[in-house]
Amino acid sequence: MLLKNKVAIITGAAGGIGRAVARFFADSGAQLVLIDLDEAALNQVIASLPEKSKNSLTIVADVADESDVKSAVASVLRQFDRIDILVNCAGICKMISILDIEVAEWDRIMAVNLRSVFLFSKEVFRHMRDRRYGKIINIASAAAKIGGLAAGAHYSASKAGVICFTKSLALQAAAYKINVNAVCPGPTKTEMTNAWGQQTNNDFADKIPFKQYAHPDDIAAAVLFLASDNARYITGEILDVNGGLVMD
Ligand SMILES: NC(=O)c1ccc[n+]([C@@H]2O[C@H](COP(=O)([O-])OP(=O)(O)OC[C@H]3O[C@@H](n4cnc5c(N)ncnc54)[C@H](O)[C@@H]3O)[C@@H](O)[C@H]2O)c1
Repeated sequence: MLLKNKVAIITGAAGGIGRAVARFFADSGAQLVLIDLDEAALNQVIASLPEKSKNSLTIVADVADESDVKSAVASVLRQFDRIDILVNCAGICKMISILDIEVAEWDRIMAVNLRSVFLFSKEVFRHMRDRRYGKIINIASAAAKIGGLAAGAHYSASKAGVICFTKSLALQAAAYKINVNAVCPGPTKTEMTNAWGQQTNNDFADKIPFKQYAHPDDIAAAVLFLASDNARYITGEILDVNGGLVMD
């Protein structure tokens, strides 16, 4: 019960990695706040959780929208009066050549993958600072370090922004005993990579020293560690979970 009674917000909770994080957190005793655009999928996640987590708070919100983020955080504080953990997991990815990326597409990827991390972190940091306690974990990507194997340049750039935002916030937040870290998954079996097709996924798996994609649970285990007090002296860390694809 590493997270007993901790209030944890997970964005992108209806997706492959977000669902796994929700399950790991539920099994560790956390009170969950699950946020996603996809209401039907969020309800399925709730149905799949253990009985004691069935009363988790679900919020349908666009993580890129400032007013949605402010009202989501206000609802959590109204219901629980505190936020202990924030996992910024919502994200979108597209396989696309740089020549085909239009400005609107560039802006949307930046907004969903990077602006959202800024918006949620800012709202939650304000509150965590007053309590002198908190854990923020951002989901970046191996693509942020080596460029995308399949993902567009806008995706990789947005995730590189997540890494530097993580370090910058970690520096500011340390004075308040708030830990800010990121996890950098390599290719992971979720809806996001399913969309790339079997052949592409086989080709990419072959480039990974472990010769297979991560399971979402592999990412969730790293997030759980960083969210727990076992990681209380770790901040500004960018934790690779990628089967050896990137070693730095
Ligand atoms: N799957 C991978 O190989 C991989 C690798 C590295 C990093 N990541 C990152 O991990 C995170 C989770 O990815 P995943 O593989 O679980 O993808 P996924 O597509 O399964 O899940 C993403 C979730 O985010 C939600 N979402 C998208 N836009 C949103 C918005 N504007 N507001 C609210 N919710 C929104 C979607 O509805 C979906 O439920 C993402 O940030 C992704 O970039 C994934």
